[in-house]
Amino acid sequence: MLYLEILGNLPEMARDEVKAMLELAGGKIAGQDYLFLKLDAGEEAFPYLNRLGLAHEYGKLVVEADSVEELLEKAKEVEWPIRGKFKVDTETMANCRHDVLDLPRKLGAVIHAQGFKVKLSKPDTLVRVYCGEKIYAGIRLRFFDPKDFESRKAHHRPFFRPISLHPRFSRALVNLTKARTEILDPFMGAGGILMEAGLLGLKVYGVDIKPEMVEGAEMNLRHYGIRNYELKLGDATRLEELFPDKRFEAIATDPPYGTSATLAGRKRDELYRKALEGMYNVLKEGGRLAIAFPADFDGEAEGERIGFRLVGKYYQRVHKSLDRWFYVFEKV
Ligand SMILES: C[S@@+](CC[C@H](N)C(=O)[O-])C[C@H]1O[C@@H](n2cnc3c(N)ncnc32)[C@H](O)[C@@H]1O
Repeated sequence: MLYLEILGNLPEMARDEVKAMLELAGGKIAGQDYLFLKLDAGEEAFPYLNRLGLAHEYGKLVVEADSVEELLEKAKEVEWPIRGKFKVDTETMANCRHDVLDLPRKLGAVIHAQGFKVKLSKPDTLVRVYCGEKIYAGIRLRFFDPKDFESRKAHHRPFFRPISLHPRFSRALVNLTKARTEILDPFMGAGGILMEAGLLGLKVYGVDIKPEMVEGAEMNLRHYGIRNYELKLGDATRLEELFPDKRFEAIATDPPYGTSATLAGRKRDELYRKALEGMYNVLKEGGRLAIAFPADFDGEAEGERIGFRLVGKYYQRVHKSLDRWFYVFEKV
């Protein structure tokens, strides 16, 4: 059994991102306690979990208990898979119902009694305790360093446009499509979504109506070492003409939200409807579309009218004058 801690700002989206990756890996979510997930999956899931955007860390779940006393009792019975020296570290989640203040010291003593040495700075093994409805202890295997995503935020790219999604959300959109080999972004802008997909080894296809965006997106992709791409100058409402005979496994996109500069003179809602139809037509059966729309556009109704099946939707308030929904659709 593995554990995984999701990020707290859009927990349903984060959980569904994990679910999508486990569907590819052949595992499933076996339980949830606030931001702590129990995963019924083994090592074969690691390459898929390593793709995640909205995750904090994952590891091996060692013990689970209803009280501090029970946890300590159980901890004595198991063989701790410790490499080198260790440290115990506690995560007290917002729903924590137990007094865990002294737990790191007590659990540390139990593990120490099995012959392992403690090292508080830079330990070789980090034992993680999570307190929620229940208490869990495990061994951290992978920490998702925020610096990794921060380093790809818009202002660090050679071609800079302030309209980009945070790389974590771009990554999550890609993963929610369950893309294995390729992905299309028909409103690619500076290429933020394509960068996250390209770093996963997917072939990336992009379209933008502005020549400077096509050039800029290419510059950004190359800067991050991505070479397997096909970018086109064109209109997202004419995808079938741009890609004759091509059907895509997945589409992820963040269309313009309505300032005249990014809409290129079109009426917003009409652009969204036409683009949705075009995306439906170039998607393979069973393929998924992950897309963001401002909250005053009913993406769910429009998507379903075209024939998409809604798989998930997640609300995000961006700032005072912008709130949006992320939608995931499947072509059935
Ligand atoms: C919000 S930006 C995309 C941001 C992008 N996801 C990123 O992370 O950099 C939307 C882009 O859509 C482009 N656009 C607007 N109308 C379009 C159309 N009809 N077809 C294709 N691209 C269009 C704009 O030029 C703009 O670059």
